[in-house]
Amino acid sequence: MLFSKLVALLSATLVLASSKPRSVQKLNIIRDTDGLQTNVTWDEYSLMINGERMFMFSGEVHPYRMPSQSLYLDILQKVKSMGFNTVSFYVFWGIVEPKRGVISFEGFRDLQPFFDAAMEAGIYLMARPGPYINAETTAGGFPGWGTYTPSLWRTSNTTYYEAWQNYVSTTAHILAENQITNGGPIILVQSENEYTGWAPGYSEDFTYEAELLSAWRTAGIKVPITFNDASPEGHYLTVNIWGYDSYPNGFDCSSPYTWASNAVPTYFWSAHEEYAPEEPNAVYEYQGGAFDGWGGSGYDTCAILTGPDFERVFYKNELATSTTYLNLYMIYGGTNWGGIAHPGVYTSYDYGSAIAEDRTLREKYYELKLQANFLRVSPAYLTTRPMNSYSNQGAFTGNQALLTTQVLDVVGNQTGFYVIRQANASSNAMEMYTLTLPTSVGNLTVPVLGGQLTLDGKDSKVHVVDYAAGANTLLYSTAEITTWATIDGRDIIVVYGNAGELHETAFKFDGTVPAATVVSGSEQLKSETINSTNLVIQYTTTGQTVVEVGSDVLLYILDRANAYEFWVLYPPTTGAYANYSTADPILVKGGYFIRSVDVSGSTLALLGDLNSTASFEIIAPAASSAQVTFNGEPLTLEKTSYGTLTAEKTVSLPQVNIPTLESLTWKTADSLPEITPTYDDSSWTTANHTTTVNPTQPSTPVVLYAGDYGYHTGNILWRAHFTSLGAETGFTLNVQGGSAFGYSVWLDSSFIGSWVGDAVYESYQSSFSFPGTLSKGSAHVLTILQDHMGYEEDWTAASDDFKAPRGLLSYSFEGSNATTVDLWKVIGNLGGEDYVDTTRGPLNEGGLYGERQGWHLPDFDDSYWADGLPTNGISSAGVSFYRTTFELDIPSGVDYPMAIVTTNMTTNPYFRSQFYVNGYQFGKYVNSVGPQQAFPVPQGILNYNGLNTLAVSLWAHENEGAKLSSIALEVLAQVESSMAAVVNQPMPPWTPRPGAS
Ligand code: GAL
Repeated sequence: MLFSKLVALLSATLVLASSKPRSVQKLNIIRDTDGLQTNVTWDEYSLMINGERMFMFSGEVHPYRMPSQSLYLDILQKVKSMGFNTVSFYVFWGIVEPKRGVISFEGFRDLQPFFDAAMEAGIYLMARPGPYINAETTAGGFPGWGTYTPSLWRTSNTTYYEAWQNYVSTTAHILAENQITNGGPIILVQSENEYTGWAPGYSEDFTYEAELLSAWRTAGIKVPITFNDASPEGHYLTVNIWGYDSYPNGFDCSSPYTWASNAVPTYFWSAHEEYAPEEPNAVYEYQGGAFDGWGGSGYDTCAILTGPDFERVFYKNELATSTTYLNLYMIYGGTNWGGIAHPGVYTSYDYGSAIAEDRTLREKYYELKLQANFLRVSPAYLTTRPMNSYSNQGAFTGNQALLTTQVLDVVGNQTGFYVIRQANASSNAMEMYTLTLPTSVGNLTVPVLGGQLTLDGKDSKVHVVDYAAGANTLLYSTAEITTWATIDGRDIIVVYGNAGELHETAFKFDGTVPAATVVSGSEQLKSETINSTNLVIQYTTTGQTVVEVGSDVLLYILDRANAYEFWVLYPPTTGAYANYSTADPILVKGGYFIRSVDVSGSTLALLGDLNSTASFEIIAPAASSAQVTFNGEPLTLEKTSYGTLTAEKTVSLPQVNIPTLESLTWKTADSLPEITPTYDDSSWTTANHTTTVNPTQPSTPVVLYAGDYGYHTGNILWRAHFTSLGAETGFTLNVQGGSAFGYSVWLDSSFIGSWVGDAVYESYQSSFSFPGTLSKGSAHVLTILQDHMGYEEDWTAASDDFKAPRGLLSYSFEGSNATTVDLWKVIGNLGGEDYVDTTRGPLNEGGLYGERQGWHLPDFDDSYWADGLPTNGISSAGVSFYRTTFELDIPSGVDYPMAIVTTNMTTNPYFRSQFYVNGYQFGKYVNSVGPQQAFPVPQGILNYNGLNTLAVSLWAHENEGAKLSSIALEVLAQVESSMAAVVNQPMPPWTPRPGAS
């Protein structure tokens, strides 16, 4: 152990200053296992699955953020066709054990459909069951009951230890059954999450770490256990494969074009070598987008902050650190439906990811595909070391504005990768350069045939040297490679550059140098034989040019837009892992999305999605592509002069009828009977605790924290019964609910005021005057309706930050210090931790009267309600509910994602609404805070072939009342699709709700 560490360190130091790759000594290869299985092994370079080295290109997906489970397959197939092979997912303790001791994986919480979809897509999984996950989820994934469980969480404290036992062992058993050792997709399990920062006075708790490790193992986890340090600081090194996280462009989506000049991380390699030199350089979370908070600038801006230029610069920079495990957080963000969110995010968790919340593909997706496909065909990269990690400005190029990292295959001792980027990450300058490279035929300065290479602003490139592509070797290529494949004995090599850039690709031959002939495209090549056996081809990357080099190479020269269109697909083999095959690739150019390929006899069957008419070029073995079908329909094929196939496929996008929501009949009812004089709150919970274990000790006579009474999500109502001393003139209260929360207060039936909410306040103190003096001895009730934006996270271990209460921190009567509250009552979601809707889960409903009654559910009888639209609203402060139904009849074979869309209301702007589709809460809207106005609802929650129930709550904060400015159902995209049929999630209808009052 010590010896191998020494060898690795020594070799790393030896090679650091070297620019002569061939003299590099081969490192000692240590194959390692956790001793429990042999499917997943590793050494200091990479992971190996069943003995095969792989670049693990992974993306984060949270099953609980997509409750329409039959869409998992679509998402995972999109990840797969991007060239990725792995997905990482969290398990959310808070929704599977919402009541202590009662664990349920019912409904959308069942993980098996996710595992099955992964197997079908051919995607490996990394499971991240916490118990702490962060993830912008309420309480960072902890269950609500944790807020009243004593002692510090995320430590080895006994109370916490006892709290996580049940969840960890139950979940681990489920994961264990789905490990690769049992024929499932799970290859790694992460313990804890970013256990990296501690409250003052605390530090890394090794006992806690060890206890968790042993709990996973005891429950049957056999695959390697991993851990993600928030940054590479060497915590929790006792796991099998340690790694770290990084979000180098930050989360400020409001200025998405601004990058810090030093934004690109430069210390990862040295940190990796310091902490885990015998393990692959693993990055378990790398920025794939950014979250956006209440009042933020919206996810389109986050997608720009982390757009294709970001992907090029930052992900290629990871290659400059020989990273071989790269998980992008998030690859598909999904939705914070119900009460999933912590206060730092709103309903959408789109994250600006490559795959948008509505499952459409951003340009980011296509850029990632270029990079992922390259890594999949570059085994030499998997045993590399960075030689001059960041040290040499101007190295290899002579241009001081550029940084070049030389990354050499120190095992194969042949191939080099040169990663180039701007030294100043904020630069938009066009830099010109030549590269002086050590190659197997000696040092060369490229372009050899004259001219210069360019790096235009925020860009980065990987130039290869002595790179094997099938039977051929590229002496070098300045145009980047997206893929190569050997098909019918011919090496198809696909290279690309930005439109109009000058590039060179050089081939190394053993003997005779064949001619390079343009067989398609208008490009004029320059070519020349150097050193008698090497052929240099110079060109600009414009459109598509196909070049035959002798009879066994077809070189595709593409600009970026053309390269985006290339798909690399692998026909399934047989057995349980048939869809994980990476043998016999088939290349398809064209189409918005190609999902899969299958070969039967001489027929090639493509499945894909189109948003416009597609022109395909198909490069497949002749014997298996005599016929080609697309989504089951035969294509009319033509053959190119160079032996590939072309075909046109017209798109079919049927028109559909979408109801105009504002012309439907809506029913409405008052949802705040609590302020009527006869309202009886006797069935509510009496808030009578006089002590709490909460770190925030109360200043009130009884504890007024909703969590202490089992209410952890959605709106909370409080009622304070008091007897007047005749002197009260008003009421002052400090309420806490999290960023952008609000509250409204009534004295008996009279509205006395609201805090309307603002993203910067998580608690707020207000004073409200009573409408008149109260007569001495008279009985009154104050009704307080407050919003709950989720619990805070607990990122700082031993801080218990997640316990920050939701409720009243203080109150007093103006003009009468002596007045006391005789009785406090509280209500949240019906049943609290004994929530009634076990299908939609513990976070779907809050405590509004209408929610307690189940007015948001299908089949509730609203026939006796008045007619009224949410766009008519209410004329005074209060809460009303609206319901309507509509039919949809969307044909099969299309993917038309939809959203409930509202627009900003500028008159009487202070209100909040929630939107429920077939009982699932898919939108929480705060008009005066924003920014979200379109709330995507996935098919399967929205019934595309039948009846839908839409319910809207409207809470007007001010005397003038409020109304929605508009409400519409909109189609977000029209795609002809091969996705598997969507089965609706269970949508249990309304049934009588005993105890709801
Ligand atoms: C990381 C954390 C993730 C998520 C991410 C930001 O620190 O591990 O769970 O919170 O930050 O989106």
